[in-house]
Amino acid sequence: MKKSILILLFTCAAFTVSCTPRTYEDISEETEKSTSPTYTANIEAVIKTNCTGCHSNGGQFPTLETYDQVKDATQNGNLICRIDQTQSCGGVMPPRSAPLSRATIDMIILWQKEGYKN
Ligand code: HEC
Repeated sequence: MKKSILILLFTCAAFTVSCTPRTYEDISEETEKSTSPTYTANIEAVIKTNCTGCHSNGGQFPTLETYDQVKDATQNGNLICRIDQTQSCGGVMPPRSAPLSRATIDMIILWQKEGYKN
């Protein structure tokens, strides 16, 4: 009898710990905080979702459709400065919508630091 109460208590405790609420945002930000981001696995999706609507062929400069173009805009252009509202070099990109999350900006900075892995 005592034993089964103990087991019940343990089960409840384990359940409580494992069910600490985590929002969808926590989880997706963890994914974005990849330790070693690459263009194909991490960067491309962010750019396609938030930037190429305007920065595509024949659209706004710089075109951000390929690895080389995104790398060039980051390395030689002011891409990081333009997405990071803590720096100032013009309006924050993307304009007219929510800025990228801190985790996403940091991931792109890390991508730069690590030499633009493809
Ligand atoms: C709604 C359209 C739109 C979206 C979406 C958008 N941009 Fe822009 N972007 C512009 C326009 C228009 C300009 C030129 C005016 C300016 O400099 O603010 C610009 C300018 C820039 C520049 C500066 C180029 C230069 O040499 O000065 C960079 C870098 C840039 N965008 C990067 C991005 C990135 C990265 C994203 C996605 C996170 C993004 N943009 C999303 C419209 C957009």
